Amino acid sequence: MPARVSRTTKVLCISPAFFLLLACTPPELSIAEEEGERPIIYGFGSPATAEEIAAWDIDVRPDGKGLPPGSGTAAKGAEIYALKCAACHGANGEGGLNDRLVVSSPDEQFPDSSDANSWQHRTVGNYWPYATTLFDYIRRSMPFTLPGSLQSDEVYSLTAHLLHLNHIISESDEMNAKTLPKVVMPAHGKFVLDDRQEHQEVH
Ligand code: HEC
Repeated sequence: MPARVSRTTKVLCISPAFFLLLACTPPELSIAEEEGERPIIYGFGSPATAEEIAAWDIDVRPDGKGLPPGSGTAAKGAEIYALKCAACHGANGEGGLNDRLVVSSPDEQFPDSSDANSWQHRTVGNYWPYATTLFDYIRRSMPFTLPGSLQSDEVYSLTAHLLHLNHIISESDEMNAKTLPKVVMPAHGKFVLDDRQEHQEVH
């Protein structure tokens, strides 16, 4: 039965099956009569605790909001990378079973629309506009087979290692909640808001 039913239709619909349905329905269950109302109570679940919400609330913004305490350097990151990442992304991020993470040279340009195969040429060093996204991405999704398993210090270290391999920071630069948002990525100025008014928007 559709959720939005007029009272007249309901009267016409009454049949033995309808009474059976009523008999089996828990007293607190009611069907919203008007669109937009959500009075249905199912009698299970419980409000999420602050701790449960914090475990999911891990997004990091371009200005660094959301970065956790901790720190790391490329040297430490190189060790972790060899153990947990190289098998899929190549010993130096050159790609393998999965994505290339490092530019082939410091001069590798931003792959724009003049590049017919631009999607194949996108990588952290020439395409990602914010360094903080690298932290967010690694923390939430890598290693692919065990996402969420890395500690904050490990994620900072891996982020530092990949930024160093991409010729963006030096090997000894420490990455933490203060320094990481200050890293300016080569592709930073390549993305602009589409503020055209007279054409179809492009996202
Ligand atoms: C089992 C294979 C595997 C392992 C191990 C692995 N990755 Fe990945 N990685 C992937 C796959 C697959 C993707 C693409 C996922 C997608 O596009 O949805 C990816 C994507 C990425 C990307 C985004 C690339 C881009 O430009 O879009 C980064 C960064 C990354 N991985 C970092 C890491 C780091 C750091 C580690 C080690 C902690 C790691 N990965 C371990 C399989 C792996």
